Amino acid sequence: MQNFINQLSTVLEQKYILTKDEDKAPYLTDWRKRFIGKALAVLLPCNSAEVSNIVKLCAEHQIAIVPQGGHTGFCGGATPDNSGTQIILNLKRMNQIREIDIANQTITVEAGCILQTLQEKAVEQGFLFPLSLGAEGSCMIGGNLATNAGGTNVLRYGNARDLCLGLEVVTAKGEVWNGIKGLRKDNTGYDLRDLFVGSEGTLGIITAAVMKLYPLPISQWTTLVACQSIASSIALLNLFQKRATSLLTGFEMMTQESLDLNEKHFPHMANPLQGNPPFTILIELSDHESEEHVRQLLETILEEAFESHLISNAVIASNLGQANAFWHMREHITLAQAEEGANLKHDITIPLSSLDSFIKETDALMRDKYPGVRIINFGHLGDGNLHYNIAPPLGLDPKIFNESNEKPIHELVYAQVERCHGSISAEHGVGQLKLDDLRAHKGEVAHELMKTLKRALDPQNILNPHKVVSI
Ligand code: FAD
Ligand code: MLT
Ligand code: ZN
Repeated sequence: MQNFINQLSTVLEQKYILTKDEDKAPYLTDWRKRFIGKALAVLLPCNSAEVSNIVKLCAEHQIAIVPQGGHTGFCGGATPDNSGTQIILNLKRMNQIREIDIANQTITVEAGCILQTLQEKAVEQGFLFPLSLGAEGSCMIGGNLATNAGGTNVLRYGNARDLCLGLEVVTAKGEVWNGIKGLRKDNTGYDLRDLFVGSEGTLGIITAAVMKLYPLPISQWTTLVACQSIASSIALLNLFQKRATSLLTGFEMMTQESLDLNEKHFPHMANPLQGNPPFTILIELSDHESEEHVRQLLETILEEAFESHLISNAVIASNLGQANAFWHMREHITLAQAEEGANLKHDITIPLSSLDSFIKETDALMRDKYPGVRIINFGHLGDGNLHYNIAPPLGLDPKIFNESNEKPIHELVYAQVERCHGSISAEHGVGQLKLDDLRAHKGEVAHELMKTLKRALDPQNILNPHKVVSI
């Protein structure tokens, strides 16, 4: 190990090799403080040549590498194990925008670029980069691609995978694969880009990417509406999809219990809808035409929804500040949960046609088996993606509650997900959190194929071992 540490200075400037405990500490835990690891060193390369040389050295010494972006992930993928033998490869110094191609409507960016910086650079050129999530001020595009992040604009623009046209990747051998191409069609055999997107640092290290840009909408209208049931929320979604088509850019759901928790920790973010209804839906329409056009469309659809008894109340944001306040309320649920203490997260997708039955049955089973639990259910309803999170009954210590109930609660939720032909990981990935659940969920054939890929691309198992799939 000491030999390896000594040789590191041949591939990276000494000041970017962190080995002291106090220097390594900020990189050793995830955002939720759920996973805490140890590392031999934290390395901060500044270009793909340095990444390549580091990987070659690690391969020679069989040192495991944990790639890391903003470490905002929820599944412990960017946190090393407890052995103290792995290195963290944090890409934050690789944060350059390499090119904005106006005619091609693409941006080429290094992996360590913070998502919000990328969004801002796009706006400066009159474009929209639509990937948007609560952690955008600290997560990085490499991490977004490695987890195939979703967020609040997937309904209209797709997830990180859909926005990516090309990649540069350092392989487990330390070769640099140059797939930096901004092509919307490229059927030249296996899609290597798609293999690395969503692989959570287990197949290669993403060092740069070509991402799609879109024309910047000129008008946006945001509304909060009250629904009494999930069935009417889905009927409302279908109504908006039919009437607003591609103008519908956001459709988020928050239950009464989620917003109660929000208000407990952030009283200034109380639900503006009177009485905090069972389901509050945040809807956003965006347009490239006049403000009046989209406002009129929104009002017409809401009238139809009132007449069909799909909604019982609605408030339209009168200005940008109010629209932002609606979004902040939605995004603060995660922060309210963090304030409340440890909780059990489920990031799941269910086909919209089964969502009503999923929520009714799972809620009933959960409340029956764990009286008093709080079901903090919210999420990207337009994508069928629920954050079906469980907080302990009031007054119980979350750590003690989770210790004895975590496994059976996950099993209960995941059995319901399987019944509805859903997914146990919609947008957050697998990491170390869901490693054991994945095998049963994928099925033997898919799981073996994943292992075959892992063995082929990383035969020494040095890239983020025991994350996603163990070989
Ligand atoms: P990290 O956490 O550093 O890493 C995540 C995984 O990717 C790890 O396995 C890591 O090894 C790997 N990795 C990182 N960089 C690279 C690279 N360059 N090459 C190869 N592998 C790499 N997620 C959503 O999808 N939707 C949301 O709406 C959403 N909202 C969030 C809100 C909050 C408040 C927070 C804290 C998180 C949220 N997340 C959300 C989760 C998280 O932000 C995303 O998973 C994000 O994509 C992770 O990016 P990161 O740079 O922090 O990656
Ligand atoms: C969200 O949609 O707000 C995020 O995915 C965060 C979460 O799941 O808590
Ligand atoms: Zn989410």
